[in-house]
Amino acid sequence: MVSPFLPEAEKLAAVRDALPATAAGIYLNTGTAGPLPRETAAAMAEVAEWELTTGRAHVSLLPETLERMAEARAAVAAILTSDIDTVALTHSTTDGMNIGTWGIDWRAGDRAVTSSLEHPGGVGPLYVARDRFGVDLAIVDVGDGGDDDRTLTAFEAAITPGTRLVSISHVAWSTGAVLPVARIAELAHARGALVVVDGAQSAGAIPVDPDAIGADVYAIPGQKWLLGPEGMGALWVRPEALDRVRRTFAGYFSFETADGRGTGLPWPSARRFEGTNYHRPSVVGFARSCGWLSMYVGLDWAYARAARLARRSADLLAAIPGVELLTPRHQMATLVSFRIAGWTPDQALDELGRRVFAIARTLPAVNALRISVGFFNTDEEIERFCAAVAELAAHTPETLPRHRALPLLGQDAG
Ligand SMILES: Cc1ncc(COP(=O)(O)O)c(C=O)c1O
Repeated sequence: MVSPFLPEAEKLAAVRDALPATAAGIYLNTGTAGPLPRETAAAMAEVAEWELTTGRAHVSLLPETLERMAEARAAVAAILTSDIDTVALTHSTTDGMNIGTWGIDWRAGDRAVTSSLEHPGGVGPLYVARDRFGVDLAIVDVGDGGDDDRTLTAFEAAITPGTRLVSISHVAWSTGAVLPVARIAELAHARGALVVVDGAQSAGAIPVDPDAIGADVYAIPGQKWLLGPEGMGALWVRPEALDRVRRTFAGYFSFETADGRGTGLPWPSARRFEGTNYHRPSVVGFARSCGWLSMYVGLDWAYARAARLARRSADLLAAIPGVELLTPRHQMATLVSFRIAGWTPDQALDELGRRVFAIARTLPAVNALRISVGFFNTDEEIERFCAAVAELAAHTPETLPRHRALPLLGQDAG
């Protein structure tokens, strides 16, 4: 069993054993979806089997479901160092960003401000608000996100007194920069705007305290750095902002009491934003992954290890002639983006895949490759990956020798 008290090498071995996908290749794409813990998959399978054999209509199912949902909220609250009542379950980051963005009763001419580094899951709802209600959407150019003075000056100019919402990523999905959310939130609050934060690339990757950084709404996924199943996410809502964030979706789970005759009393907590139904195995799996991370792996250990390995990756890549690092190293989390001169991202990903079976991704929007470095990665994996990048960088796709493929991890070098 993984325990926070094992020595580093033993602990790493136990962690990797508990994450079987780490043995399938160099797992460098947790920014899309992380490796599932074995025990999460087992818990999900157990619930699915129960549903298969007992059915989904047993009298105990609803109270059971409510308990499992409460456990999932509590597990998320522990990760966000928050009170349970601040957490609602959602289905994804995008779900939460929509709930936050539609928390404003938009009128034509209202202003919303966001950055030039947002993911469609965060900026998408703003485009809809603009196109549907004539919202004045300001997209602030923050470059690679690595210059806080530039970012803050641009936000200060854009957040005019009529601004109702500021929507911003904690960690930019393309360059990997950690954005100065706390100081942007101060500017937003001084002008009366609500602050909605996209935490897709932060929760489980770096320490997150939505209260301390001044978020009103903080949306996170289950499937990325929290190593949970797809189709689950969570939303943190500041207690004082609960009534300011208007509800758009509502249903059975949103109300403390509701009848069909006109009465619907929403939960006094963030639960009021739980509008739709949930997939029980995934609720259980989400709670199990969060619990596994915080209770067995230990968040401090995971954050420190991922930060060290990500930094090492960035340093090694930056030192390769022909490699251009997009990630600002003084302000990075666990994503590292880069370009290789002479190679398109697709060509490079294809060739790297052949050499080291690295599970990385391309970023067409910025014409680059991205790796996501997790606490479960090893130094050897990072060195192996960077050596393969160096080999590509020393050639072009036309001149690269075809018969010098690096061995897969775990295979003999010969
Ligand atoms: C910054 C950011 N926001 C939103 C998303 C979308 O996440 P989800 O699939 O949980 O909605 C992603 C990744 O896919 C992301 O990197």
